[in-house]
Amino acid sequence: MPAKTGKHLLVTYHLVFCHKKQENLCVFVSLCEVFWLRLCRFSNNMHQERTDAFDEVKCNHGDMGEQSVYDDLEPKIHQRIAEAVADAVPVLDIACGDGRLTGFIASGSGSKTYGVDISVSHLAEAWEKAEARGISHLMRLAAGDARNLCFLDESFGSLIMLYSLHEIRRLPQALDEARRVLRPGGKIIVVDPIKGGKAETLWNESYYSLAEIESMLTRAGFSDLTSDFLYDDIVFVSAKKVPIY
Ligand SMILES: C[S@@+](CC[C@H](N)C(=O)[O-])C[C@H]1O[C@@H](n2cnc3c(N)ncnc32)[C@H](O)[C@@H]1O
Repeated sequence: MPAKTGKHLLVTYHLVFCHKKQENLCVFVSLCEVFWLRLCRFSNNMHQERTDAFDEVKCNHGDMGEQSVYDDLEPKIHQRIAEAVADAVPVLDIACGDGRLTGFIASGSGSKTYGVDISVSHLAEAWEKAEARGISHLMRLAAGDARNLCFLDESFGSLIMLYSLHEIRRLPQALDEARRVLRPGGKIIVVDPIKGGKAETLWNESYYSLAEIESMLTRAGFSDLTSDFLYDDIVFVSAKKVPIY
């Protein structure tokens, strides 16, 4: 077996953390993605030609210059999120990408921290980084769709969506899932650029307005919303899941 394939398979088995009944399905989906990935790697230029729709998602933080302002914010944003979730573990990082935030929280808290992302290649990167930092024993990474999470109801003390709200299609479905896996009293933290700011032009993406974010969270059943700006157009929203009696 080529080393790359072996590595990806290994990663996949480590990645999967699922509700028992859904475990086989998740493993199956992950394996399909891994084989797809392998197929692509054998084609001429896998990195240029990945056809998985979600691998087209840009996770880079753009060119230099103005965009570096946003890069420079990262430590501050990670710290702020880590503080917000410190009293509400376990934490699930939804659409965790290459796991920079997941790893930051895991290493800071010393407790197991969960990440889920639809892109196996991002997760493979996350796993490699975690291993390099010696924190993989604290990381639980799952390949999956935010709109159909393979976790039990009420599994998490807090959920994070960093720079992912605008990426997820059919977002209300993902917010319903988020509410399902969150414990009563647990919190959800959303950090995203908002409509009409500089980031929108820099990355040529469309974002929600703060009012839209708040309204979607409220409609999904979250309450006690608070929000503030971490930068001109980067909003930090915190909300809670209030139990239904
Ligand atoms: C801009 S990146 C942000 C990654 C990470 N949160 C960070 O801040 O570095 C957006 C991520 O959303 C993931 N994503 C997009 N749609 C998704 C979905 N439906 N379910 C899970 N992950 C998704 C992408 O694969 C990508 O890793």
